Amino acid sequence: MRVDRFLSNLPQFNRAQARLALAEKRIKVDGRVVIDPHHDIRPFCRIEFDGHILQAGKSARYFMLHKPPGCVSATQDPEHSTVMDLITEPDKHELHIAGRLDFNTSGLMLITNDGHWSRRLTLPDTKMPKVYYVETEQPIGLEYIAKFYEGVYFAYEDLTTLPAQLELLGLYSARLSIVEGRYHQVKRMFGFFNNKVVHLHRESIGPLILDSGLAPGQYRALTAEEIAQF
Ligand code: URA
Repeated sequence: MRVDRFLSNLPQFNRAQARLALAEKRIKVDGRVVIDPHHDIRPFCRIEFDGHILQAGKSARYFMLHKPPGCVSATQDPEHSTVMDLITEPDKHELHIAGRLDFNTSGLMLITNDGHWSRRLTLPDTKMPKVYYVETEQPIGLEYIAKFYEGVYFAYEDLTTLPAQLELLGLYSARLSIVEGRYHQVKRMFGFFNNKVVHLHRESIGPLILDSGLAPGQYRALTAEEIAQF
């Protein structure tokens, strides 16, 4: 929200008073004087007027979760348990999932109360690599490598997937790195070869690797270094 709008929503300012307070350098955002009425503020910002706190600023929270198979990537589900059932944090209702996984997919999920951060992370333009360990029903051929790099056409969205890197690990297993997050993307890419994915596990998102100390269903807060990497 723009800072002038934030101020004029408060009982002590109308629109003109908000602009005046800014022009008179009486407003600070996170300790810095702000005069630009368009300055973008977020729930995490600390906002002061003549040193009086108008908004204390929530603390941003970030977690990595080892999603087990057999639970839904959603905050609520009428039928199944959800990844949010695994979280026992105060003000849990403020948290949301950054990037979903299918019901039977396991692995790294990120959970936060910072909508800006999760949007940046999941936007197609960000091209954040996501690495999956995959097991299939049929053998994985060498021709998959070139096809996945070239791109697979998805008729429903009328698009071709961006170059993806495939590393063959065994006859039925591989590691795939994709930079998008299309619906059922990995399964549909293998579907091009009529090869069913029987096991799918997300190992990493960008620089963040699933902590091997986290058993399925466990989670932990990201460290300051991990947060800074994004
Ligand atoms: N691709 C899929 O097909 N499923 C997932 O859960 C993630 C990526």
